[in-house]
Amino acid sequence: MLLRILSDIHGNLAALKAVLEDPSGEKADSTICLGDVVGYGSHPAECINIIRKICSEVVAGNHDQGAARLIGLSHFNTDGQKAMEWTREQLDLEHIDWIKSLPLQTFYYGISLSHASMKAPSSWIYILKTSTAIDAVLAAGEYLSIYGHTHIPMEWNRHGECSDRPAGLLNDFSLLNCGSVGQPRDGDPRAAYLLLNTEERTFRHVRVKYDVHRAATAIKAAGLPEHLARRLLLGK
Ligand SMILES: [Fe+2]
Repeated sequence: MLLRILSDIHGNLAALKAVLEDPSGEKADSTICLGDVVGYGSHPAECINIIRKICSEVVAGNHDQGAARLIGLSHFNTDGQKAMEWTREQLDLEHIDWIKSLPLQTFYYGISLSHASMKAPSSWIYILKTSTAIDAVLAAGEYLSIYGHTHIPMEWNRHGECSDRPAGLLNDFSLLNCGSVGQPRDGDPRAAYLLLNTEERTFRHVRVKYDVHRAATAIKAAGLPEHLARRLLLGK
């Protein structure tokens, strides 16, 4: 089975459309979303409408939960808080109910799916160093765990060593971050997503060019913080 795995769309409709139109992922049997559909970007409602229609599995991210008031504004930085207040105004009750229905972690074909570390998904722990990676590996047990949250495509093995290889066999690694569709932070502004073949046990990180300037302009036009537009252009 070929899985197309998306995360951290952050209301960036142009990036989401570009990813869904990318020929590499068109033959996927299933599309999965690891959360943060909204927050920061200018089209949160439109992104939810697409994701809830096409995805077979979706888990909630911290920004989704913030938008549904399941967690408070104090979880976010200043720009994040401003964007969150704006995002809350853009969503209707149906969107909120859908967010509230999302789990924090689920299992699909023997794979653990969560937004943040699977050690304690509701604590929103970032896996960015050896100690948090090992904690997550231990929590994952026998499962391959795929996660988002850091917006950086990378993988970790059982010893807490990381790699940023773009493709390969899954066998030696336990944690895999699929990168961010709508707000990459690895210095590459192109949208990121992951293709995973469950039979061959292979993966490939895919990058897709899209009109980043258009997405940045839409953020400014919506009255959202300018920094959120600038960082899209830098991929940071
Ligand atoms: Fe995010």
